[in-house]
Amino acid sequence: MTARGKDLPDVGEIEERHTNARRCPDAQHRRRPPRPEAQSPFFWEKFPTKVRSAARNPFHMRRCSPIATTVARMQRTISQSLFARAKELLPGGVNSPVRAFRGVGGDPVFFKSGEGAWLTCVDGHRYVDYVGSWGPLILGHAHPSIVEAVIAATRNGTSFGAPHAAEVEIAELITQRYPSVEKVRLVSSGTEATSAACRLARGFTGREVIVKFEGCYHGAADPFLVKAGSGVETLGLPDSPGVPAAVAGLTLTAPFNDLPALKALFDAHGPKIAAVIVEPVVGNMGVLIPKAGFLQGIVDLCKEHGALSIFDEVMTGFRLAKGGAQELYGVHSDLTTMGKVIGGGLPVGAYGGRRDVMSKIAPEGPIYQAGTLSGNPLAVAGGMACLKELAKPDAYTRLEATSKTLCDGIEAEAKAAGVPITLNRVGSMWTVFFCATPVFDYPSAKKADTARFGKFFHALLDRGVYLPPSQFEAAFVSLAHGDAEIEHTLGAVKQAFRAL
Ligand SMILES: Cc1ncc(COP(=O)(O)O)c(C=O)c1O
Repeated sequence: MTARGKDLPDVGEIEERHTNARRCPDAQHRRRPPRPEAQSPFFWEKFPTKVRSAARNPFHMRRCSPIATTVARMQRTISQSLFARAKELLPGGVNSPVRAFRGVGGDPVFFKSGEGAWLTCVDGHRYVDYVGSWGPLILGHAHPSIVEAVIAATRNGTSFGAPHAAEVEIAELITQRYPSVEKVRLVSSGTEATSAACRLARGFTGREVIVKFEGCYHGAADPFLVKAGSGVETLGLPDSPGVPAAVAGLTLTAPFNDLPALKALFDAHGPKIAAVIVEPVVGNMGVLIPKAGFLQGIVDLCKEHGALSIFDEVMTGFRLAKGGAQELYGVHSDLTTMGKVIGGGLPVGAYGGRRDVMSKIAPEGPIYQAGTLSGNPLAVAGGMACLKELAKPDAYTRLEATSKTLCDGIEAEAKAAGVPITLNRVGSMWTVFFCATPVFDYPSAKKADTARFGKFFHALLDRGVYLPPSQFEAAFVSLAHGDAEIEHTLGAVKQAFRAL
C-alpha cells in the first residue's frame, strides 16, 4: 500500500461492513429489486447474462430501502479520504469546479464505475445517475456499442495527427442531421468549439463584439466569463480575475427570452456586433425554455444587422432531437457549436455552419484554428457509435416518454408533499427549481431556494439518486433509464420532499 493510501481501509472490507450495518431490518422497507424485464429492452438486450443477473439484486437494494421514511446518512468514508487527499493536490480537490459540491454543501462522491443508468461510488453505494457526465451519456454508462467501438479503434492506434475515414463519416452524419451545418470542424471540447466559433464570427464580419445572454454558459474561455453588472448594465465586467477587462468589454449581455433588450443592444451597438451566441434551450441556469419566437428573433436580428447567430448546442445537440434544438424549434442559425453527445463520453467538440462562413477557416481561409487531437479516432469512434444508436427509430420517443413519466411523477410528489416547485423540462433535460414562480431568465432562476435544493439533493443522494450538485444545472435522462430506475427515483423523491 502506498504512503498516501495507508489511511484508507480496504474497499472490500468497507463494502462488507456497510452491507452488514445497513441491511434494513424492517421487511416493509425492502423494495422489490428491479427486474431485468422491467428495464428498457433497448438497454438490457445489450448485456450478457452475468450482468443481467447482477442487476436483479443491485448493491444498494440489499440495504436500507429508498422508501423508508428516514434513512441514515450514507457513509462515504473512502470518498471523504480521497477528497482530503485530492484537496492537497488539485485546486478545490476537483478538475472542474461544480464537481466540488459547493452548490449543495458536503463532500463530493468519488465514483468507481458506471453501468447503464447506475453509478457505483468507491464506498460501494449505487445511485441512479441524472448527471450523465453533464450530458454526454445519452445512452447511459458503458454502453456496449460505444465500448466496443472505442476498443476496436484503439487497436488501430490512438491518434494519427492526420486525416482518417471516420472523421468524414461523422462530418457527413452531422451535416445530414443539421441542415444549417454545411461544413464542420471537429475539436476536442465544447469550450474549444465556442471559442473558435467566436473567432470565426469576428474574422468573418470584421467586427469584435459578441453578445451573450445573462446566465448562459458557453465554456470557460475569456469572452464568455462575463455577466451584466448592475451599474454598467451591458458593458461587460469580467466574472473571473484573469479575464482582461479589454476582452470582457467586448462581450455584451442581454436577458434571456428578452427580444426587445436584444434589439436595443443592436440599435446601440449594431455595427460592432459580430455574433450573438445563445443556448437555444438553456441548461446552465437550470433548464430554461425559449419563449415562442425568441430563437427566430435572434436569427432575424442578426441577419438584419449583418451579424452571425451562433446556437450553442453543446448540450442540446443530438439530445433534444436528431437535429437538436434547431430541429425541435424549426430555427436555423448561421453557426452551431456541439460537444457532449457527439463524443458519447469521449472528448469531442465541433463547430460548423454556413459554407461561406466555414470556408474562412484555415487552411481554406485565413482564420486560424488547429488542434493536435482534433478528430481523434477514439473519440470519433465513440461519437459515431452513440449517434448510430440515436438513429434507431424510437430513440427520442422513448427518451421523451421516460422523461415525462419521471417529471410528471416528481411534480405529483411535490404537490402531495406541499412543496412549491417549478419543473422545467425539454425532452430529456430537466430541472426542479425550488420556487413557485415561473423560471424563464436569470433573475427568475435566482429566486429559487438553493438551501432547499441542497437538502433535496442530499436526501436523494442518501437514497441512491444522483442529481447535478447545483440548483442551476440541468439533469439528464438517458436511454438506459427504464421503469425500475424511475420507480426507484420516485420512491426516493417522495421521501426527499417529505424530509425537507
Ligand atoms: C452550452 C454549453 N456550451 C459549452 C460548454 C463547454 O463545453 P466543455 O465543458 O466540453 O468545454 C458547455 C459545458 O457544459 C455547455 O453546457
